[in-house]
Amino acid sequence: MKHFLDIHTTAKADLRTIIDQALAMKIARNNRPKGAPDDDQPLAGRMVALIFEKPSTRTRVSFDVGVRQMGGSTMVLSGSEMQLGHGETIADTARVLSRYVDLIMIRTFEEATLLEMAEYATVPVINGLTNRTHPCQIMADVMTFEEHRGPIAGRKVVWVGDGNNVCASVIHGAGQFGYDFTFSGPPPLDPEREALEFARAQGVRAEIVRDPAQAVEGADLVIADTWVSMHDPQSAKERRHNQLRGYQVNESLMAKARPDSLFMHCLPAHREDEVTSAVMDGPHSVIWDEAENRLHAQKAVMRWCLGV
Ligand code: CP
Ligand code: NVA
Repeated sequence: MKHFLDIHTTAKADLRTIIDQALAMKIARNNRPKGAPDDDQPLAGRMVALIFEKPSTRTRVSFDVGVRQMGGSTMVLSGSEMQLGHGETIADTARVLSRYVDLIMIRTFEEATLLEMAEYATVPVINGLTNRTHPCQIMADVMTFEEHRGPIAGRKVVWVGDGNNVCASVIHGAGQFGYDFTFSGPPPLDPEREALEFARAQGVRAEIVRDPAQAVEGADLVIADTWVSMHDPQSAKERRHNQLRGYQVNESLMAKARPDSLFMHCLPAHREDEVTSAVMDGPHSVIWDEAENRLHAQKAVMRWCLGV
């Protein structure tokens, strides 16, 4: 069973195959209308369940459109409207869904929910974000970097802000794709130690530099994300803003990175908090390509899962 649960638990060769296929599939579409089918229809006859226990714009729309372009059908389910949200176990839900659908994508809170779904499903399961990681996002990010700048191996990637779920997957990506990683944020919001240790064990640098200006020196890619994630209590908002105020990605910070550095943000963004509009809409930013590439990268992930 080929689940796509995380970057660090998927083989390096498979991750590379997926990125290369995503790039090839994007080129093959040659900007045809979004609803037009791909020439080959690798998901013809396949049904995909998309389960959301948290809000989503990009993940929801990109998976749905991607499946349709490949000839499959989708069913978008909200956790609260399923029996899942009313006491049925994850294991039983997984067993039942596996009798109806060929692939399950789930966005949830606890990583344990994703892992239980994968353990009991008899069809592939894809991680569409948990409190801990967001692997589909990093596939799109690597694809986007390589489209613009060539191989990401050996480059310097700097994360500025909260060491959250997306950050953890970026760190896993350092180990698997061979780029160096620097985190810059306040100590209470450091990324998880296991992710940093995983990256270091693969032979890349994975370091923490508190001063953002020093951290972005020589950066090929600077990444920001929201200061308050969906799983964080809203009561944390004011404290987070006070902790992170010095970690805004603005033009003066980007000026300290390499002149040809790129800026990414998984979106949704909070303009003038973690990043200024001048950076989001400025010359370093590739955020719209990054968002588009969720579609292409996830299409390749689904093909890999299903072996089609
Ligand atoms: N980046 C991302 O996953 O966006 P959504 O929350 O809109 O899916
Ligand atoms: N860190 C953010 C990412 C949203 C796509 C969150 O979990 O809310």
